[in-house]
Amino acid sequence: MKKIKSVLKNIGLYFSVFNKENRFSWWLHFIRSLPGEGVFPEFRWRFYKNRLKDCGKFYTHTGVIIKGWELISIGEGSWINIGCMIFATGKAQISLGKNVMLGPYCVITSQQHSILDTTQPMIKQSLTGDGGVIIEDDCWLGAHVVIAGNVRIGKGSVIGANSFVNKDIPAYSIAVGSPARVIKSRLQANTQVDT
Ligand SMILES: CC(C)(COP(=O)(O)OP(=O)(O)OC[C@H]1O[C@@H](n2cnc3c(N)ncnc32)[C@H](O)[C@@H]1OP(=O)(O)O)[C@@H](O)C(=O)NCCC(=O)NCCS
Repeated sequence: MKKIKSVLKNIGLYFSVFNKENRFSWWLHFIRSLPGEGVFPEFRWRFYKNRLKDCGKFYTHTGVIIKGWELISIGEGSWINIGCMIFATGKAQISLGKNVMLGPYCVITSQQHSILDTTQPMIKQSLTGDGGVIIEDDCWLGAHVVIAGNVRIGKGSVIGANSFVNKDIPAYSIAVGSPARVIKSRLQANTQVDT
């Protein structure tokens, strides 16, 4: 009896699962969890193409989370591997150029939590930063790269696995580590490619 009463009490909550907003969340979850092979990436791209600020045809693997659609551009031929998160907030934009590759589990956000005020929990503090993230054409970010706003990665650059990028990276660089430091230039090997 007690159980039934509690179910009845929460009936509004149960039914809210079917309201418009939550139905869209289910749909979004479904789209994100589709496989990374066969027709499914194309299906996912069709879902995103009219929602992002700007995009060419790009690939996403399973479990990629893209949020802040109206602030995000993704160029033709880009490839976003499994479990990546691209999250734009505030006014700061995130732009991926053409033929950009993101390795598995990269996180790209445009803002960070403010950490200045110690009198209130950080979760309640506003997000800061309005510089955004620009990743130019033909960059390759290895697995688990993290970028938290205010960064431009120049054309043709490679960012090593597990790097945290907090400064601009010149074009055709190879940068590794946390924080990421440029260790070489791809131009030395004369391997420039036009995209
Ligand atoms: C950066 C990378 C492309 C290698 O570039 P490279 O020019 O061939 O570099 P090298 O292997 O010659 O290494 C140069 C130096 O950088 C270091 N280094 C290379 N990758 C590194 C990384 N991810 N983090 C920290 N240091 C790294 C090497 O240890 C070496 O240091 P040393 O000179 O002190 O020995 C590669 O290491 C990498 O991170 N690839 C990403 C792999 C990945 O994530 N794949 C899955 C996604 S598709």
